[in-house]
Amino acid sequence: MDTYDLSALRPRLPSPLEPVEDERFARHGLTLLLKRDDLIHPDLPGNKWRKLALNLRAAAGRPVLTFGGAYSNHLRATAAAGRLLGFPTIGIVRGDELAGRPLNPSLARCAADGMRLEFVDRATYRAKHEPTVLAALLARAPEGAYVVPEGGSNALAAEGCAALGRELSGRADVAAVACGTGGTLAGLAAGFAGRTLGVPVLKGGFLDGEVRALQEAAFGGPRGDWRLDERFHCGGYGRTTPRLDAFAQDFEARHGLAIERLYVAKMLLALVSLAEERAFPPGTRIAAVITGSGDC
Ligand SMILES: Cc1ncc(COP(=O)(O)O)c(C=O)c1O
Repeated sequence: MDTYDLSALRPRLPSPLEPVEDERFARHGLTLLLKRDDLIHPDLPGNKWRKLALNLRAAAGRPVLTFGGAYSNHLRATAAAGRLLGFPTIGIVRGDELAGRPLNPSLARCAADGMRLEFVDRATYRAKHEPTVLAALLARAPEGAYVVPEGGSNALAAEGCAALGRELSGRADVAAVACGTGGTLAGLAAGFAGRTLGVPVLKGGFLDGEVRALQEAAFGGPRGDWRLDERFHCGGYGRTTPRLDAFAQDFEARHGLAIERLYVAKMLLALVSLAEERAFPPGTRIAAVITGSGDC
């Protein structure tokens, strides 16, 4: 098998688009559709496939070095891709205090998939894109390693996510996506002939600039009709509130679908709240992008 022939992984593309009955939308004349990117691949679900695919082709079987926190879905997906396609992976993990401790289940999965884990202190981690810091990290990695940034978000990732927008064009009027680094939104909005709503799960208001920069790098300038709604981070990354927990449990019970809590739950809460605020005109078809799996 060609090490970078990703078709061997048989991604489920285009991902299914499922209408769901939900009276919180129906009562305002709105249709809710779930864009099931979580079903694209069991080990590279959701935006992981979309963001990694073109990067893995560019790496073409070379070792891949990337970055993440102790519970990073991106690290897990990269490690799984390395196992499935047979290329080495190196994960630079935030927090040198983790070295020498038992690995949490997420990092244990990375290690079991063959990823070499290197724990770095937070200052080094923050400075990871500075040339001297990156050079020092690369010097310890296998030769010729291909670097994928934290969260997998770079120009190729945004290009990969544009396909998500193209799949939705003509089938939905609004697309909603949860945002961490903004790469998925940058690409989705570029490919989608409708309005895109980004729901940041981190506090800080920095995302607007990040999305613009990614679109500039990927497409040469601003693309698509997108906006952010900063009200639904529920305290920041990994934070939750009783309202969010109750909402996610209720959504799961209504629709028989496990909801990923760090990102997807916040985006769905945003949509239900916006429907309640009558933010969408009657007749609007709203596609909620299920960017991750609630089962892992
Ligand atoms: C499940 C899930 N949804 C959404 C996102 C946000 O993606 P991005 O970092 O491209 O904004 C992530 C992070 O990669 C994620 O793991």
